[in-house]
Amino acid sequence: MVKVLFVCLGNICRSPTAEGIFRHLVKESNLEDKIQIDSCGTSAYHKGHPPDERSMKKALEHGIDISKQVSRPFINEDYYAFDYILAMDEKNLSNILEDLPHNSEAKINLMLDYSKKYNEKSVPDPYWSEQDGFEVVFQMVLESCTNLLDRIKSEHCL
Ligand code: 4NP
Repeated sequence: MVKVLFVCLGNICRSPTAEGIFRHLVKESNLEDKIQIDSCGTSAYHKGHPPDERSMKKALEHGIDISKQVSRPFINEDYYAFDYILAMDEKNLSNILEDLPHNSEAKINLMLDYSKKYNEKSVPDPYWSEQDGFEVVFQMVLESCTNLLDRIKSEHCL
């Protein structure tokens, strides 16, 4: 089983979108029994909350239901439980790397390290933006997740 974790700040906008998109792509590839997916936040600001209404609306516009997700904070066990950890922005990445245990084997990257189209490092935080910020997030994450899945398929012969 390959285990993939998406991380942002609040786990109500970007990483739930990534989890939803990646789940959708994995299902389309019939790899649900080979790839396990989760998301979380570097903060506990929204612990127990569903995704932001605007993220749920945007995902649903693209045929993806993320309404059942529940925000949770990143925990120490995540360093050991996941094979791939994808941070949505540079601050999330530095927060994760700050406490990285020496014996973690997780492959930790920025989400956009997997993009072939976007040169930025960070998926912009849409929380304070208008609805169009959520479309930007969706498109960036979709393209990156498509490439991530291709990479995982080739690295694990799936
Ligand atoms: P996310 O967006 O990290 O993509 O879930 C945010 C959600 C909440 C806050 C900031 C960003 N906040 O400050 O509460």
